[in-house]
Amino acid sequence: MITGTSGQDGSFLAELLLKKGYTVIGLMRRISTEPPYRLRYLKLQPFIDEEKLKLESADVTDVHSILKVLKKHKPVEFYNLAAQSHVSEAFDQPYETHSVNYLGVLNILTAIKHLDMTEHIRLYQASTSEMFGGTAIKYGLQIQDEETKFSPRSPYGIAKLAAHHQVVLARETEHGHWLRAACGILFNHESELRGENFVTRKITRALTRIKYGLQKTLELGNLDALRDWGYAKDYVEAMWLMLQQQGAAEKWQDFVVATGEMHSVRDFVNATAREIGWEMDWEGKGRQEKGYARIDGERRLIVEVNPKYYRENDVHLLRGDATKARELLQWKPRTNFNQLVSLMVANDMRLAEAEKNGSMVA
Ligand code: GDD
Repeated sequence: MITGTSGQDGSFLAELLLKKGYTVIGLMRRISTEPPYRLRYLKLQPFIDEEKLKLESADVTDVHSILKVLKKHKPVEFYNLAAQSHVSEAFDQPYETHSVNYLGVLNILTAIKHLDMTEHIRLYQASTSEMFGGTAIKYGLQIQDEETKFSPRSPYGIAKLAAHHQVVLARETEHGHWLRAACGILFNHESELRGENFVTRKITRALTRIKYGLQKTLELGNLDALRDWGYAKDYVEAMWLMLQQQGAAEKWQDFVVATGEMHSVRDFVNATAREIGWEMDWEGKGRQEKGYARIDGERRLIVEVNPKYYRENDVHLLRGDATKARELLQWKPRTNFNQLVSLMVANDMRLAEAEKNGSMVA
């Protein structure tokens, strides 16, 4: 059972589990329009057996709906990927963010306990590197692992950290009925299915549209922010591996999932431009900074900074050490930074070309 099935990670995880022969129960909030495009992507995959992918309407903020689907399907693995996942949105909607990202988890734990499913089920909780937030500035820690102190800097990070502690507690102190649960502390993970309001996809979409003359410039916020960007498809494998841990619940562990490599937002623009065949140069500092691309011999302004995209409290640096996942789960990322940029650009070139020609693309 997966919550957040229509999200980037939900669709990749559903794909992985279906390939492994699982029956997947995908939970989605009730929607009045057609299924989101990421589910259309799933339906396009040739291995999809319609019988094995069942979509159910449920919402983690409504404990009754969770009780109902748990009772009906009695899943053996439960992946909680439902979230309000946009960090800057969380400043505008802190209540909604807490409701989904924290209370939603409390609801899942309550429902599992109420149905006496503690010994039957394994729970994966999507924790995040945002829980480390300001740790680099506050404690001078330039790389984060499972032992690093948390220091969230947004309502998003706080809600996720509360949920993290709640799941760890269910694993450690359930009065003899410990829940086998694992939290994956995932660093940023991107893909061709990434939402366009996240910076990587915003960049690959914009630059490919500029290439096809569909857009003139791209406006960004903090170009100096440093992130550890991996490929979402690699990261869902780590989620699955975490739920294959053996032994009693008290022995279960949480894992950092990351590449260990860090790049700035500016680097991501440079790599995207390079993939398209342009060289970038930059002028100015801070909010005055501008990015120029050499396109067909002409130097064109394509990136500007707009203060609107600056965050109240931006996380400056995140870089993960996934040694524990490498050693205990035998997990490692397969896709490096340039390969990630390359596959996102290839996908968005296709979209831009179709948009230019006025045709639809799946
Ligand atoms: N979204 C966005 N838009 N971010 C920008 C922009 C812009 O125009 N310009 C600069 N940035 C900077 C942000 O300030 C941030 O420092 C960095 O780019 C990455 O922003 P996002 O792509 O929005 O991701 P995030 O790091 O805030 O959060 C993502 O990763 C977390 C894991 O660390 C999300 O996927 C979270 O859900 C996830 O938990």
